[in-house]
Amino acid sequence: MTERLVGKRILITGAAQGIGLAIARACLAEGARLFLLDQDGGLLRRSVQDLGAPAGTVGSAAVDITEAGGVEAATLEAANQIGPLNALINNAGVNVFHKPLETSEAEWYRALDVNVKGAWNCCKAVLPGLIEQGGGAILNIASTHSFTIIPGTFPYPVAKHALLGLTKSLALEYASQGIRVNALAPGYVETQKARDYWNGFEDAKAARTATLELHPGKRIASVEEIARAAVFMISDECPFMNAATLVVDGGLSQLQHPA
Ligand SMILES: NC(=O)c1ccc[n+]([C@@H]2O[C@H](COP(=O)([O-])OP(=O)(O)OC[C@H]3O[C@@H](n4cnc5c(N)ncnc54)[C@H](O)[C@@H]3O)[C@@H](O)[C@H]2O)c1
Repeated sequence: MTERLVGKRILITGAAQGIGLAIARACLAEGARLFLLDQDGGLLRRSVQDLGAPAGTVGSAAVDITEAGGVEAATLEAANQIGPLNALINNAGVNVFHKPLETSEAEWYRALDVNVKGAWNCCKAVLPGLIEQGGGAILNIASTHSFTIIPGTFPYPVAKHALLGLTKSLALEYASQGIRVNALAPGYVETQKARDYWNGFEDAKAARTATLELHPGKRIASVEEIARAAVFMISDECPFMNAATLVVDGGLSQLQHPA
């Protein structure tokens, strides 16, 4: 263990699998204490066991982040179990991909509720404690969909653009109280969510290869590569980084595709 996050008590959402679980593992290895949330209680329990953390360093609760009451109760429980929170990583998110005019009202709200309102619910629950302690850090896991558009993925980019709006709004509102709010924007990452997306095509293997081929380095990110960037951003190593978005996409969003 190195000790880049000793003294950090971090709430991480969507931590039962994928990027969230990799972030949890990386933060734990750097000496943080964690409180993990996920709506999938069974998977979260198994993942917490797999982390094999020393007693008292990791707590967890099965919570749907779209329910503000549940989030608030979990935040209080987190303080009881690991001490007052001084950091939050809003990672939980859902892909909702449609053509705009084929998007039902329920799907519109599912995208906005989880990806934006859920993140806000967590900020709202954690911010008073950060203000009271005189500082802290919030990291929102955004996406390259936060500033680029892939046709047919509506309204996910609407929600992920809004998440950057939330990031910048809170960053400016609370900077004078020592609170940093930033976003990390991964491109394609090898997760179950990405595999579900490829499995939606007739030839999943070809769909995956096509995704890899899009990238300048002909590969996509591992969850660990995203987690390492998250550790840096939530640590005290970048105290003047605020209202920023760090893009970790292998250069994909800078590539001009032939017309
Ligand atoms: N995988 C990628 O390629 C990729 C790329 C860019 C950004 N992202 C973003 O990274 C984050 C994590 O993505 P992932 O691929 O690891 O996803 P994932 O589906 O593997 O894991 C997401 C976790 O969030 C939980 N979750 C979903 N809705 C929830 C809710 N309402 N309340 C509580 N928990 C909830 C799920 O149960 C799941 O365990 C998301 O915000 C996603 O938009 C992912």
